[in-house]
Amino acid sequence: MKKTIRDFELKGKRVLIRVDFNVPLDKGLNITDDTRIRASLPTIQYALDQGAKVILMSHLGRPEGRPVSSMSLSPVAKRLSELLGREVAQCSDCVGARVKEELKGLDGSGSVALLENLRFNPNEEKNDANFAKALAEHGDVYIDDAFGSSHRAHASIEGVTRYLPSGAGFLLEKEIRYLGETLQNPRKPFAAILGGSKVSDKIRVVENLLAKVDKILIGGAMAYTFLRVQGVNIGNSKYEKERLDVARAILQKAQEKKVEILLPVDHLTVPKVDENAPTKIEGPFISEGRLGVDIGPRTIELFGRALDSAKTVVWNGPMGIFEMKLFSKGSYAIAEKLSQLKEAVTIIGGGDTAACVTSFGFEGKMSHLSTGGGASLEYLEGKTLPGIAALQDK
Ligand code: ADP
Ligand code: 3PG
Ligand code: MG
Repeated sequence: MKKTIRDFELKGKRVLIRVDFNVPLDKGLNITDDTRIRASLPTIQYALDQGAKVILMSHLGRPEGRPVSSMSLSPVAKRLSELLGREVAQCSDCVGARVKEELKGLDGSGSVALLENLRFNPNEEKNDANFAKALAEHGDVYIDDAFGSSHRAHASIEGVTRYLPSGAGFLLEKEIRYLGETLQNPRKPFAAILGGSKVSDKIRVVENLLAKVDKILIGGAMAYTFLRVQGVNIGNSKYEKERLDVARAILQKAQEKKVEILLPVDHLTVPKVDENAPTKIEGPFISEGRLGVDIGPRTIELFGRALDSAKTVVWNGPMGIFEMKLFSKGSYAIAEKLSQLKEAVTIIGGGDTAACVTSFGFEGKMSHLSTGGGASLEYLEGKTLPGIAALQDK
C-alpha cells in the first residue's frame, strides 16, 4: 500500500503536486476536453482545505525539450482558475531563480501556482537528478496525481520522489483501486471487452487478462485477425498478417484456461471507409471488396447476453470506427449495456475508449473511467508503473 495525501500533515506546507494536465487543445488553443483537469480537483481542493500552499506541475504535448508557445500551460491555468474559483498563478518556467521568486511572491496557505510545461526542459524526460532536485525544492511534500503519466520514469514523476516525502493523490489512488486491485481480485464472473484498431497494441493486455477473466469479447478491427485464423472470410477488413500466429496462440491458450472467447458473428460493412458509402449487414462472412467497420446487430445481442451476469467488466478498445456516427452503433450499445449493469463494477481504460464513452454521455454511469491512455494499457498488461512504484509505502 502506498502512502496517500491523507497520510501527511499539510497545514502551512508547500505541497508539490504532479498532475496530468496533458489535455487536447484545438487550433485556437482552446481546451476541447478538460476531464483530466476536473479529475484532479479533489486532490487540489483537499490540499487547500488543509491549509497548504499548492504548487502544480505537468507536461503538455511533446515539445521535445524546448519552449514551444503553443504548448504553454497558460490555457490550463485559466481553466483551472475558473474551476477552482480562485486565482492560479502561472509561472514563467518550472525551475530556476525567477520561478523561485514567483513562488515566494505568492500569499501563504490557500494559494495555487502552476509551473510551466515540464517538457520545455530536456532534463524532465531524461529523469535528470539535478533537475528533479530543483523541482523538489519547490515543495515540502510531493503528491502524485498524474496517473496518465505514471508509465513514464521522468524527473517530475520518478526522480523527484528521492528528495521529498511522497504519496498518491485521490485520482491516482482511485485508478490504483480500480485498475489494480479490482483486477487482481475481481468479483466473478469477470468479462473483458477488447477492441480497437490493432491486435499488436493489445497482445500483452490479452495475455495478462487470460489469467484472470472468465470471458473475453473481441470486436473492432482486432477481431478480424482472430476471425481470419478461424478461417472466416473477412473480405477487405483491416487485419494483421504478421499477428496471425499470436492470435492463434491466444485462442489456444484461452481454450486451455477455459476462458470463453466471443468473436463477432455479423458486421456492418462498406466498400470503403466513408460515411456516405452504402452499408450492409453481413455475417459471419464478409464479401470480397467490403470491409467491417462495426459489429452487427446479432453480435450486439450476443455480447449483451454475455455481459448480463458479469460482476466485473473491463473494456478497452471501441467496437468499430466510432468516430463516424454511422459506424458507432456497436460501441454505443456496449456503453449502454455497461451503464445498465447495476451489480457490476465497470472499468473503462484506454484513451479512445474513454473518449468514446464520454461522447455518448455514459461517463457518469461507469464505476471508473480511467484518465490514462498508455498508462492504463500498461497497467492492464500487468506492468509495474514507475510513477506508482516510486511512491513511499505506508
Ligand atoms: P484505446 O485508445 O482505447 O486503447 P485503440 O486506440 O486501440 O483504443 O482503438 C481505437 C481506434 O480503433 C479508433 O480510432 C477506431 O476508429 C479504431 N477501430 C475500431 N474498429 C475498427 C475497424 N473495424 N476498422 C478500423 N478501425 C477500427
Ligand atoms: C498521455 O496523454 O497519455 C500522457 O499525458 C502521457 O503523454 P506522453 O505519451 O506524451 O508521455
Ligand atoms: Mg488509442
